Amino acid sequence: MSQSKLACPATLIEEVKTVADCSIADFPKRMEPGNVLMCPPTYFTVESVQNPFMDGKVGTVDQALAQKQWHDLKDVYTKLGCEVKTVEPVEGLEDMVFAANQVLPGIDENGHPFVLLGEMRHEKRRLEVPWYRQWFLANGYKVLTIADGLEANAPVPRFEAQGDAIWHPSRKLLWGGYGSRTDKDAYPVISKLLNVPVILLNLNDPRFYHLDTCFCAINEDSVMIFEGAFDHAGLELIKHFFKNVISVSEKEALNFALNAVPINGNVILQKGSAKIIADLKSHGFTPIEVDTSEFMKSGGSVFCMKMMVY
Ligand code: ARG
Repeated sequence: MSQSKLACPATLIEEVKTVADCSIADFPKRMEPGNVLMCPPTYFTVESVQNPFMDGKVGTVDQALAQKQWHDLKDVYTKLGCEVKTVEPVEGLEDMVFAANQVLPGIDENGHPFVLLGEMRHEKRRLEVPWYRQWFLANGYKVLTIADGLEANAPVPRFEAQGDAIWHPSRKLLWGGYGSRTDKDAYPVISKLLNVPVILLNLNDPRFYHLDTCFCAINEDSVMIFEGAFDHAGLELIKHFFKNVISVSEKEALNFALNAVPINGNVILQKGSAKIIADLKSHGFTPIEVDTSEFMKSGGSVFCMKMMVY
């Protein structure tokens, strides 16, 4: 029976020196979700500027093209054997299509799925969360909130769920980005509430406003990153826990190359990043290019447009 060593703290990890004796194999295994939840882009548009990609893009979305791109992406998942479930879009909630942000799904010790609800930074996006909550309740998930881990009346930190909190593939370990959207203070609460260690990553470049814009964990050993989005401590932690760190240029990162979805050796990503396509192939992965140009106007691409669910 494997037990995690004392050297692997079950709380917050901010520096490599606290985990020097510890490798990824020391963290307990975690079952990965295999299905996909998406939200049709019926009411998708760019209405106000919430991130640098949206600047100058208000009112420029081609609705027909957005519909086509969303359906093409959905077909890719179906062809890869994933069941695609959908949550009903709500008129007036134009960003609801970005299904990665409203909740963080997980699985507890008894194999029961749960979601931790997001606490979105922007008021408009906060309105999306109850609709996702409803979907997960109806689908048998236990629902947790950040407030569950706080004293009554304590201020609730912002938390943009799977946009900033990304599970290490197959392990009970969370990578937690903070800065533009999620507050650092969210992670001590989350670590306690879910009983998982969290590796903190400070995101200090406003263009990489969510962890999923600069970090894509492909499997237990491999990750793609844009180094410029992290500080020294963060980079050291990433390089400590992943054997293969594939670095992406700023140009390809800004083309959302890292906002990609890995599924069984395939990597679905925005088209047009030749270098990373070649690197993925040389590491034995199969890149699948899609076009998400209309969604990039809102600062999102492949990873943002789905939630992996059990
Ligand atoms: N317009 C959305 C926002 O600024 C885009 C969200 C993209 N999602 C993501 N996981 N990066 O909130």
